Amino acid sequence: GRSWTKIGDLDADAAGRSVLIRGATQAIRPVSKKMAFVVLRHSMSTVQCVLVASADAGVSTQMVRFATALSKESIVDVEGVVSLPKEPLKATTQQVEIQVRKIYCINRAVPTLPINLEDAARSEAEFEKAEQAGEKLVRVGQDTRLNYRAIDLRTPANQAIFRIQCQVENKFREFLLSKDFVGIHTPKLISGSSEGGAAVFKLLYNGQPACLAQSPQLCKQMAICGGFERVFEVGPVFRAENSNTHRHLCEFVGLDAEMEIKEHYFEVCDIIDGLFVSIFKHLTENCKKELETINRQYPFEPLQYLEKTLKLTYEEGIQMLKEAGTEIEPMGDLNTEAEKKLGRLVKEKYGTDFFILYRYPLAVRPFYTMPCYDNPAYTNSFDVFIRGEEIISGAQRIHTPELLTKRATECGIDVSTISAYIESFSYGAPPHGGFGVGLERVVMLFCALNNIRKTSMFPRDPQRLVP
Ligand code: 4AD
Repeated sequence: GRSWTKIGDLDADAAGRSVLIRGATQAIRPVSKKMAFVVLRHSMSTVQCVLVASADAGVSTQMVRFATALSKESIVDVEGVVSLPKEPLKATTQQVEIQVRKIYCINRAVPTLPINLEDAARSEAEFEKAEQAGEKLVRVGQDTRLNYRAIDLRTPANQAIFRIQCQVENKFREFLLSKDFVGIHTPKLISGSSEGGAAVFKLLYNGQPACLAQSPQLCKQMAICGGFERVFEVGPVFRAENSNTHRHLCEFVGLDAEMEIKEHYFEVCDIIDGLFVSIFKHLTENCKKELETINRQYPFEPLQYLEKTLKLTYEEGIQMLKEAGTEIEPMGDLNTEAEKKLGRLVKEKYGTDFFILYRYPLAVRPFYTMPCYDNPAYTNSFDVFIRGEEIISGAQRIHTPELLTKRATECGIDVSTISAYIESFSYGAPPHGGFGVGLERVVMLFCALNNIRKTSMFPRDPQRLVP
């Protein structure tokens, strides 16, 4: 095959060289019958191509006309010579130009796209500035973006968001592998609810009632019973949430881990501490370009975190809220507002956007959660927050069948649907605990984005099953 150059690799070193590149026509600017500019984009990079009709270069006025008649977002191949511009280029990422010799259209986009990509890439500040100047610009709504996701994903911010997501997932694996966790896969078709509650998608499995897994919870614990000391899983999680909020999806990517506990469930918190500090460091140090790109469209304050993650008890949290004038039912759950407020209070007092809240009341945790040894009204459990919103929940689990049966029954669960799970604890089961992370939430909150639909490539929410 021929030798291709990536647009992102074009730099001053390539000056004078002939190259072959492929990209989408982001902008087309006719100057005269004899001259035109075409900006080509590939992934996160753009380059300016210059067409000048000249017999020497083998470029005809027809070729210039052909280029100016291309529709935006068409895929074209260009053969040309790399040159250095006279002035710095503001509109492209690459600081070289291509003097076009040949241009081929590989796939033509429709003349009018349902989304204007330039508008889709603008920041709110740009819109406001334009409005003040009396210009009419159209904001691209979230639903329109999602309806035409194949176009919307081309904005620089979206290109960066999903690269960041991939890095978080990769670091999750890498870190846990380095701590002797084994990656596993558990079924998503299961016989009953794994988290309790009604938020399950029901279906028929060869005629039998079944559901989509709300989490790998029961299976990852059974893997521990099966002699794996530490396991993790990255996979889809299904929740029949009927909540249309900025942070709930009906399908999301779960990053789950489960491990033997030797002495104290804080061993699980220590893993989370090491894991997330390493993720945050990696993003900050190695994904600068992506973070800057997201920042340009959606400005955000960098995440503040401590080298050793702050841990507060649930009661301390309630106390802080009380002192700040928010009354919370002491044995109830924190609502979204209270969590956000606590996030702000913790930031003021301790200077961190990332912390662990532990020792939750029994009444607000799933049936499998281990009650505290000293006070069974509380549990050996925790939630983890970024900027006052939950990204993780975790706990020590009950590892005796008697207590598990008792708790499941108290929580109104039909134990016959989980009898194999409960029995697993009769054959010798070590103390253990673990946690579940929502990948989309981590990226959303790390970048302080306001909607989880921005960090899910093809989100599934109560209203959306396509594309
Ligand atoms: O808090 P959840 O429901 O906990 C569990 O699934 C437990 N089995 C975890 C464990 O190991 N104890 O879910 C875990 C995380 C939440 O903290 C949140 O980040 C994310 O999953 N999450 C959602 N993300 C998007 N949409 C939803 N509807 C979510 N529900 C939970």
